[in-house]
Amino acid sequence: MMTTLVQLRACGNKVRLASYSWMILILAALYCPAALQATAQPLVWDAISKEYAAKLGETNIYFTFTATNLSSEEVLIRAVRGSCGCTIPKLPALPWRIGPGASGQMEVLVDIRGKRGNLSKVVSVDSSAGLSLLAVNVKIPENRELNLQLAKADRQAVFKNECATCHVYPTFGKTGEALYTAACGICHESDHRASMVPDFKALLKPTDANYWETWVRKGKEGSLMPAFARSEGGPLDDAQIKSLVEYLTKHVSKELLDLGNPFAGP
Ligand code: HEC
Ligand code: HEC
Repeated sequence: MMTTLVQLRACGNKVRLASYSWMILILAALYCPAALQATAQPLVWDAISKEYAAKLGETNIYFTFTATNLSSEEVLIRAVRGSCGCTIPKLPALPWRIGPGASGQMEVLVDIRGKRGNLSKVVSVDSSAGLSLLAVNVKIPENRELNLQLAKADRQAVFKNECATCHVYPTFGKTGEALYTAACGICHESDHRASMVPDFKALLKPTDANYWETWVRKGKEGSLMPAFARSEGGPLDDAQIKSLVEYLTKHVSKELLDLGNPFAGP
């Protein structure tokens, strides 16, 4: 089935709607917003936009919207639709009748499985009082927070289970600069480097081969810096560590010297 995506700005909120049949309603709303507002008034919602910050592991998010009929006539809700298959409105059987002065509740389920970032969905309610657009916004937490919790409990956790996908497998068979990028750069050179991960360009201490080798092999207990040597339960063999120390001494330490850092240098 063909779907047309329409973007519009309604009351300052950016909403995204799917399906061709809506387009007519929306175009009508765009060309005569005053008419839409006027006819939509009898049915008043407790909010037209709701937000929720999901916790790690949550998959089903429920929102409740309350509609009140302020008019002296019955309002008939004929159709309710979510802007995607993951946004499911749950309400009494249609047509849903709300008597004069009465209120009714509608639940909206948002399935956030496999979704990332900030999710915004729209539910359209088509009633005898007009069209209402309700927005639901879910802030989905980054796995990063969970990763951090696991690493705080065990700094070697980065080398285990699914963490290895990003923190170990890319190091296989690599040496020198490529190994540095895969094994170390992932944390130390990240654009989103966490505050507890030091910037090598700001080290105020001598950084000779021994310094690098000790840090690579043993890391630091009680911190998030893991021990990379096989003998410590890490993923790198002696040849890889040797190549890494060479690279770090020749390049990172030298860069520090070139930057005029008085402490640096092999
Ligand atoms: C999809 C790839 C990926 C997976 C899987 C992954 N990480 Fe990471 N990790 C990264 C990246 C990239 C960074 C650098 C920071 C950033 O860009 O988010 C990072 C940074 C870190 C940091 C440094 C602190 C920080 O937040 O920057 C720690 C500690 C960490 N990861 C631990 C873990 C643990 C423990 C796991 C498994 C439970 C894990 N990571 C799984 C990609 C991954
Ligand atoms: C999971 C993220 C992560 C990875 C991967 C990682 N580091 Fe670190 N590293 C840290 C953190 C966090 C610290 C800060 C430790 C502390 O609290 O002192 C650190 C500290 C260091 C320090 C000490 C800096 C100082 O202040 O003297 C060195 C050197 C270092 N790392 C080198 C490396 C090298 C080389 C690699 C690659 C083999 C690497 N790190 C991989 C997170 C990481």
